[in-house]
This record gives sequence, C-alpha cells and structure tokens, in this order.
Amino acid sequence: MNKPVGPIGVFDSGYGGLTILEEFRKKLPEYDFLYLGDNARAPYGNRSFDMVYEFTRQAVFYLFEQGCSLVILACNTASAKALRNIQQNDLPKTYPERRVLGILIPTVEVLGSLTTTRHVGLIGTPGTIQSGSYPIEVHKLFPDIILTGEACPLWVPLVENGEQDSEGAAFFVKKNLNNLFAKDSEIDALILGCTHYPLLLPLIRRFIPKGVKIISQGEYVTESLISYLKRHPQMAERCSRNGSCCYLTTESVEKFEESASFFVKHKIKANHVRLG
Ligand code: DGL
Repeated sequence: MNKPVGPIGVFDSGYGGLTILEEFRKKLPEYDFLYLGDNARAPYGNRSFDMVYEFTRQAVFYLFEQGCSLVILACNTASAKALRNIQQNDLPKTYPERRVLGILIPTVEVLGSLTTTRHVGLIGTPGTIQSGSYPIEVHKLFPDIILTGEACPLWVPLVENGEQDSEGAAFFVKKNLNNLFAKDSEIDALILGCTHYPLLLPLIRRFIPKGVKIISQGEYVTESLISYLKRHPQMAERCSRNGSCCYLTTESVEKFEESASFFVKHKIKANHVRLG
C-alpha cells in the first residue's frame, strides 16, 4: 500500500471543527491542513448511529483520496458514534497505513487535574450524550469521577444559523445549564462536548455557577496532536509542511464562506465537494 505525503485532514459535520482547526494552525503553523465540513448533511447530532458512521466514513475516505495520511475527527458526535468502527473495521481492511483520531480521549485525559469535587458535567449533542462514549472513556481513566450529561439539541442549530448572541440562544443555554446543575450541584468542571459550543461561551459563562471550570477542547486536542506527531515520527513525515490550509464543504461555497466568518476571524475560500 502506498504511503502518501499530504495535509492533515480535519473533519466536522459543519463549522464547529473550525474552532479546533484554528488552534491546530496556531500551534502547528508549519503543517498543511485540509478541512472538510459536511454542512449539507449537518447537524449530525440527532442522527442515528448508522447514518453518522456512514457519513463520517465517506468523509474520511474522501480525505484519504486527497492524500491525507492522518485525519482528525474534530466533531464529538462523529468521534462518539463512528470513530471506533472506522478504526477497527475500515482502516485495517481498506487503508491500513492511514490513521484517524478523535477528540474525546484528549478531552477526557485532562479531567483528572481539573476537578476537585470529582463531579464533572458534560454538555453535547443528543448523539454524543446518548452514545455513552464519554462515560466509558472517563471511567476507564478515572473510575472515581461522577459524570452527569445534558443533551442540548438546539445549541448547534442556533450556532449554525448565526443566532449565538440572540435572546433565543440565551433562553436555551440557561435552560440546559439549569437542568444540568439541578441534576448535580457539586459539578466543578464542565466539558464543552461539542465543537460548536465555544461560540456560546459568553452565554455559558453567564449561566454556570461561579468557580466551575470550563473545559474547551481546542487547546487540549492540539496538545494531544502535537504529542501524537512526536510519538509517531513516521506519521509526522507523511504530513506535509508548507503552512497551507484548504477548506472543502458539501454545502454551497458562498454559504460556507459567509457562515465560517462566525467561527474564524479571517476570510476563507472554500471548494465544493460531493460525498456519497
Ligand atoms: N460539532 C459537532 C460536535 O462536536 C456536532 C454538530 C452536529 O450536530 O452536527 O459534536
């Protein structure tokens, strides 16, 4: 099997992964990145396991076909519902030399040092919460941590529609956070288990109890990628380094370029692709 040298692929159902990609580019500016947003089929959060797996597999294979040897699923829903199948079934059969990494484990790994009460909150899409993937990973590393989740079905649609600063967003952020802290008032650390949620940070900060630490993923996922590339020099050699970044979307390019401006401060030029 050939071993291509190409950009690091970054996949999300929509725009949320751009918040992770921005952190990658800050800390790893020499690497090339290829971002793919499946915006035409987003959000994934309410979709079945089979659909999320099939869509994610198509996206990952597309990125492989563009020359990526390493793909990061910058999406909690895809990481929770599709990653294991892709790693265990698809890669060995079809692309044994390529790697796909998710963002759950890097997030979970930092928990131990961030909670004192050992009560942690998790907010995410219904898909991420129902998958049970976070509790499984948390309890492997920290069996003493009590993890309480709250599904926030409307947060992604609000962000995708540019409504993150609206009264409507404030209403739903307050409602879901109140639900979460009513379930467990001892929570002292909160995982933002969705890459869209950094855009709701001002509201989240307004409605969480004082002293609760917010675990936003970009920073930790980037540290984990840096460490992965150090520990796997053969993979690092297969990631090209010209400092470039290209963007692909399954939606209309104009819509992607306009909406992406909510997520990143610079202008983006995208190309359209069809999956499936
Ligand atoms: N950004 C994705 C995540 O981190 C979810 C968006 C969606 O529902 O498609 O879970």
